[in-house]
Amino acid sequence: MLIIHTVSQLKEHISRYKQDARTIAFVPTMGNLHEGHLQLVSMARKTADIVVCSIFVNPLQFGAGEDFDKYPKTLQADTEKLQSLGCNIVFAPSVEEIYPADDFSVTQGQTALSKITARSQITARSQITAQSQIIVPGISDILEGKSRPGHFTGVATIVAKLFNMVQPDTAVFGEKDYQQLIVIKRFVKELCFPVNILSHPIVREKNGLAMSSRNGYLTEQQKQQAALIYQQLQKIARELMAGNTDYLQLEQAAFESLNRYGFRTDYIKIRHPDLSQPVASKASRELVILAAAYLGNTRLIDNLGVELKR
Ligand code: PAJ
Repeated sequence: MLIIHTVSQLKEHISRYKQDARTIAFVPTMGNLHEGHLQLVSMARKTADIVVCSIFVNPLQFGAGEDFDKYPKTLQADTEKLQSLGCNIVFAPSVEEIYPADDFSVTQGQTALSKITARSQITARSQITAQSQIIVPGISDILEGKSRPGHFTGVATIVAKLFNMVQPDTAVFGEKDYQQLIVIKRFVKELCFPVNILSHPIVREKNGLAMSSRNGYLTEQQKQQAALIYQQLQKIARELMAGNTDYLQLEQAAFESLNRYGFRTDYIKIRHPDLSQPVASKASRELVILAAAYLGNTRLIDNLGVELKR
């Protein structure tokens, strides 16, 4: 397994694979890998000759007051896990490698990005806005995007850049970040990226808590408490299966329950799979319930798909 830090080195290897007509599957991550990430890598391993995994904490998708500065970095442990799964390339670039300050942004009064990790995340994102970005309108402004303005532009931009660097045939994403998956599928389709997007179901702890690098911020007691989010999603799912179509009441009851249990709930919503508002009369077979809630300072997200019987 190769560990590569520069785009030029990555390109050398990628062009060799392309010459040999080898297929490439790609798993983008921000590192601090857990079983959820590893299952995406195993899925990638089954779909192509070559597996590339990127590890890059992308400043462009973090807003002011978010955890860019304290996001856990565990490259050594991550690479050991990836090696054992048969990953071929780990691409772990620096911020400067991905977002080089060009002459234009420097002449516009921006300094080089070399000190970016030492600065606050406000500076980090605002330094990078001189770069071209991918905006996916509408979908990026609801739910997660409403609470984290600019987040999905940051995600779409980095994923597009990484796609152009890695040139994968297939890329694997987790359903844990459901809205992210929808945003990515949309720009890939609309901008005609030649990448097949696969998704993997959410991998959970025994108590139902969706695995996340951010769970590392929680105490043992909070980890137990955090499983209540999934329990509320399941409770709504049971109601929907039983034919309840009073979506607002179901959302409201779950929202209040979570707050009573000590969360600061951001949203808990029932949506169609494309994230549009559910219409009872449409009697859609599929719905997805999405939640975001803070436990202390930690933002947790989860979702659950429901297939209704006709
Ligand atoms: P990160 O949070 O590291 O997640 C990388 C991938 O792992 C994403 O596709 C995410 O949905 C998936 N994943 C995380 N936890 C999971 C779980 N419990 N079960 C299944 N899949 C899970 O998502 C990002 O990084 C970034 O936004 C990125 C796409 C890399 C762009 O910077």
